[in-house]
Amino acid sequence: MDEIEYLKSCVKSIKDFPKSGIVFRDITSVCENPEAFPLICKKMAELYADAGITKVVGSEARGFVFGAPVAALLGCGFVMARKPGKLPREVYSESYELEYGTNVLEMHQDAISSDDRILIVDDLIATGGTVEAQIKLVNRFNATIAGAVFAISLPDLGGVEMLKNRYGVDSRCIMEFPGH
Ligand code: PRP
Ligand code: MG
Repeated sequence: MDEIEYLKSCVKSIKDFPKSGIVFRDITSVCENPEAFPLICKKMAELYADAGITKVVGSEARGFVFGAPVAALLGCGFVMARKPGKLPREVYSESYELEYGTNVLEMHQDAISSDDRILIVDDLIATGGTVEAQIKLVNRFNATIAGAVFAISLPDLGGVEMLKNRYGVDSRCIMEFPGH
């Protein structure tokens, strides 16, 4: 078994969660595994080791789990995109669509500078709405987005194509689960 097959074998799949007809790809089973978690963080960081990244951006909550170790491996800073009302200083805010209703992410207004090269990190990309909000936030700073990397991609939901077509952002992922 190669490393990607091994990592995929560590993702537990739960049928009909959170609702009937959905197969939930549960990243917690990778995070809890002392071999799989360091391996996947290393593989995510390796994809951007030579990209001149100065800051990683990750969104609350699961984006923090992967974003912070990837930033440490790349030797750069980590910027938190948080849910509303959590950050103490002046913030920029962006709303994004969920299946039902909207959510908001916020970033400190002094978190990024225009000469930063940004890597967005999250556990999973589905529709891409969560990353889209982070792209809009980073664009407020006129910083360069060098790419986005995900532990899991659900390609049938179109997020990777949307990021490329609408924002010119290239994405990489470690594991794909087609036909989720
Ligand atoms: C999950 C996941 C991604 C997002 C992907 O976050 O962690 O951030 O959904 O979906 P999308 O590409 O359609 O936006 P969620 O807000 O559900 O929960 P979390 O707080 O546990 O990260
Ligand atoms: Mg999330």
